[in-house]
Amino acid sequence: MVVIGAGTMGPGIAQIFAQSGLDVTLVDIDNKILDTAVARIKEQLKNFQDGGVLDAKKVNEAIARLKTSTNLAEAVKNIDYVIEAAPEKLELKKSIFKTLDESAPKHAILATNTSGFKITEFAAMTSRKDKVLGVHFYNPPHLVPLVEIIRTEHTSDAVVDDSVVILKNAGKAPVKLMDVPGFLHNRLIYALLREAVSMVENKVTTVEDVDIVVREAFGPRFTEVGLFGLVDLVGLDIYNAVSTYLNKDLSNTAQPSKWVGEKVAQGELGVKSGKGFYSWTPEKIAQVRKRLADQMIARIKRGMSPGLA
Ligand code: NAI
Repeated sequence: MVVIGAGTMGPGIAQIFAQSGLDVTLVDIDNKILDTAVARIKEQLKNFQDGGVLDAKKVNEAIARLKTSTNLAEAVKNIDYVIEAAPEKLELKKSIFKTLDESAPKHAILATNTSGFKITEFAAMTSRKDKVLGVHFYNPPHLVPLVEIIRTEHTSDAVVDDSVVILKNAGKAPVKLMDVPGFLHNRLIYALLREAVSMVENKVTTVEDVDIVVREAFGPRFTEVGLFGLVDLVGLDIYNAVSTYLNKDLSNTAQPSKWVGEKVAQGELGVKSGKGFYSWTPEKIAQVRKRLADQMIARIKRGMSPGLA
């Protein structure tokens, strides 16, 4: 396995595969970046050890399986699977796929972690369109189980199936979809956000109360049974009846929110500027990040919900 790019996403992606027993080479353009990435992986593994997810032996084995390289063509010479997590720049990624096609064995699967580019653009740079797909992780990739497997019209079933197996072996929860903007997770989140933002913008309710509804009602229920599972529990007849009068009242604007646009113009960007929808101090940011990480580690230890299928 080769992971390309040792920035925000690459190290966590490399880590989970090394943990799962694969030999992984992390590739970047600069040895300093790679050294920092390896230090971060070691820290993340230590957190897993402290949280009881891995024992010391497993941590050491994972570290031993990790290599680094600044020579992409050389690193991919004998591999089966590549995940590209280089910067979100189209021409750069296209040139990486060209190199991959020239240098990796003919059977190797070439995946991209792109957030938004059409996967077909990268497949077109290769002579193996059937072996190119999106494998989209969420940040931080070593903690969030979800991975979206995005196939183009050319991606073969065998390549999708192999990707599902590799990801499941690494403790991930893969979902499959065709190449649509926003993929699955973000389409759902943005549909929900459009309504939430519209309600606050129209002074129907407040930011704080929207977040209470999410945290104290459907958040925990969704965690256990999902969205369609919840409708099954409530009854499709109820959902159908409510949709007939409610759907037409929901926001269907195609425009971004004026209110949020004004906040952005005033530099209210969230944690990165100290104020967004809420106010943030460095202590509060650290506390919230720790709470989230602890919760994710506890979930990894406990195992994912069995689901309803
Ligand atoms: P980043 O900018 O933090 O890291 C990219 C790394 O790639 C850098 O270390 C850079 O030196 C390296 N790089 C640049 N050119 C290279 C080359 N030719 N060969 C090898 N390495 C090269 O980017 P980040 O945030 O990790 O994102 C990577 C990809 O993952 C992007 O496509 C992004 O859209 C996607 N993504 C990012 C998420 C995030 O939360 N940051 C979430 C999900 C996907």
